[in-house]
Amino acid sequence: MTLTGHVTNAQNQIDLAGNMFPVDAEIVVDQCEVIGEIPAALNGMFVRNGPNPMFEPIGKYHMFDGDGMLHGVQFAGGQASYRNRWIQSKALMAEVDLGRAVYPGLSDVMNFPDESLVGDAGPVKNPANTHIVRHANKILALWEQGLPTEIAPDLGTVGNWDFDGELQGAMTAHPRIDPRTGEMFFFAYNFFAPYLVYYVVDAGGKLIRKVDLDLPMPVMMHDMLITEEHAVFLDSPIVFDMNAMATGESMIQWKPENGTRVGVMPRLGDAEDIRWFEVPTSHVQHFWNAFVEGNRVELSGCRFEKVDFGIEAEGSDKESGVTTVGAKPARYWVDLDTGESGSEFFDDMNGEFCRINDDYTGVRADCLYMSGFTRPNAAAGDFDTIVKYDQRTGTRTQWYSGEHGHVGENVFAPDPNGQAEDDGWLINSTHDDESGTSEVVVLDARDVEAGPIARVQIPQRMPFGFHANWFAS
Ligand SMILES: [Fe+2]
Repeated sequence: MTLTGHVTNAQNQIDLAGNMFPVDAEIVVDQCEVIGEIPAALNGMFVRNGPNPMFEPIGKYHMFDGDGMLHGVQFAGGQASYRNRWIQSKALMAEVDLGRAVYPGLSDVMNFPDESLVGDAGPVKNPANTHIVRHANKILALWEQGLPTEIAPDLGTVGNWDFDGELQGAMTAHPRIDPRTGEMFFFAYNFFAPYLVYYVVDAGGKLIRKVDLDLPMPVMMHDMLITEEHAVFLDSPIVFDMNAMATGESMIQWKPENGTRVGVMPRLGDAEDIRWFEVPTSHVQHFWNAFVEGNRVELSGCRFEKVDFGIEAEGSDKESGVTTVGAKPARYWVDLDTGESGSEFFDDMNGEFCRINDDYTGVRADCLYMSGFTRPNAAAGDFDTIVKYDQRTGTRTQWYSGEHGHVGENVFAPDPNGQAEDDGWLINSTHDDESGTSEVVVLDARDVEAGPIARVQIPQRMPFGFHANWFAS
């Protein structure tokens, strides 16, 4: 079954403007036109997740609300094919049966649809729209307030995955997989205590550990880190305030008085083993990596001084939409012996969507990839530049996508014949707002400044989305 979209109206919805407007068709193209040359050793699938609402939203729409859509480009033997598929969440399929939206967005999330309309799809839609990962031979589409959704290799939807009944709550969209042991580490946050729950999954996909962790307040935590020895968390001041909603304010509030702390615990530790270290009040939505050097644990990521996701209550005068831009590359560190800690910026370029060669997860990585903003007054998520920091040489190199260009998240595909950390390719989805066309581009990660070596022509527009990944064949 292929699905069709029904959104026609972007009026008064910031997050449906321009290339955030959804596409309405699922297509398959066996052989895409390619400008340049796809490396023969690049074999696998680039998959990008993101919001693509199927029905006209009821009330205020926020890009976090949209039904997940997967865009996949399969690379094989120097050729590329494309397909896109909605994630068939239970909640979306209940709406398909009704022919209209019945789930409100985050602005009015407690206004649950009647059970007689949605059956067992639940009171809140899990659109599975944020990220996509592969672990223990399962592909999982992720949304941080619900269960993972298992996806088939052809991007069809298998259904909710609860680790054989072991996961009752949610799963972050940003688990960390240790490439050496094959274990997966993740967390979930809750509006009510325990505010943070930490999980470990073994290399075979069995959930083997669940630890309830104490936090002073319920916070919106988006990413975590591992070293070879530790699980690492950032408790920052994006606080859930259930009372604020009742008075017409956003339920998500920036409360700097809550402060920011780095939590470090042994990967298989218990709740009492976690140690918290105060760092400057700030937030990191996406980290690059963490590693241990001597007695220090070092973290890197794009650091916000303040965050406003623009999730406005239905009754408020403000429109909903992400307004925050302007995180900058930074390090955080803690000294496990002395208890000292700190954070410093290492560049002043605005950027986000931090990625590395995932083979270096948990150990020192020198090549850090970022989606950068260089144009003035950029909108949130409207990246224009692919950026590489190489800490071996202390250099920043970049490729600007042009006056009308936009880029998404960089995904690193290692060269199977390579040795060095950056022996491989960056794959990214780009959009030109003058021609209205989208491409999936391949850059040599060793020479980002040279720009794309191959540009796969996507036969329909790809709306801006969230995270992407590379699944080697
Ligand atoms: Fe994310």
